[in-house]
Amino acid sequence: MLGIIGGSGLYNLEEFKLTGSFSLNTPFGKPSSEVKLCEYEGRKVAFISRHGEGHSYPPHLVPYRANLWALREVGVNRVLAVSAVGSINRDYKPGDFVLVDSFLDFTKERASTYYEGRFSKKVEGNDEVARLLNEGKVVHIDVSEPYCPQIRKELSEVLRKLGLEFHYGGVYVCTEGPRFESVAEIKMLEKLGGDVVGMTGYPEVVLARELTMCYASLCVVANPAAGISQNRLTSDEVIGLMKNREKDIETILKEFIRYLSESRTCGCKNALEGAEV
Ligand code: HPA
Repeated sequence: MLGIIGGSGLYNLEEFKLTGSFSLNTPFGKPSSEVKLCEYEGRKVAFISRHGEGHSYPPHLVPYRANLWALREVGVNRVLAVSAVGSINRDYKPGDFVLVDSFLDFTKERASTYYEGRFSKKVEGNDEVARLLNEGKVVHIDVSEPYCPQIRKELSEVLRKLGLEFHYGGVYVCTEGPRFESVAEIKMLEKLGGDVVGMTGYPEVVLARELTMCYASLCVVANPAAGISQNRLTSDEVIGLMKNREKDIETILKEFIRYLSESRTCGCKNALEGAEV
């Protein structure tokens, strides 16, 4: 089943039929919101709000591990995350969509793996993930292609069909936040090859991969990053832009759910092969 992680400005799937709501507790703590099971044209999706009720979880305190584990518990094996970003690349304009294909991690204090060797949590289940955790294994996953190529491709076909402006590829820089970046930081990140900057895309992407889920991110450019435009940055600008794009995002999600192939033809499900020490 597909799971959708809603970021800033996307707290619900308004036009989907709600079929169940789960308040879960996981071995990795409580997720930031309930997991909502929804249906659209006979296809089931699960939804979780990254920032929770009333946007009460700041980026550095989002329980990323619990959120993905909760999605796993309801049967999610593919994830599409929606995230507001600032643009570093000068060709990317507010309102554009970006299907990023790699990341730079500039976070500082986040639990970014499930696999903590002898310190791993014990969990229920008997799949490979549960075995690695319960046996206390050390695991190094490959992130040469961290964003699912199949989801990115099919999502790009949907965006093209809808006639929406998008960029197929780009490097996502994740900063710790919750403050915005300085002008000097953005200059540095531009030199390092970053195209967009956000505060929540990492460790979400690698945690999903550790659970052998497919994961892709629909980034929405909300503002030019610090110093790219002369204006100071505000949360109002970010949330305002996301509100403007709300209808388009909902249309994309509906079309995507209809369009996504049932079978997984990518390699994401094999992410743990050869990863165990
Ligand atoms: N920086 C970091 N995160 C963001 C930005 C930004 O400029 N815009 C939206 N999320």
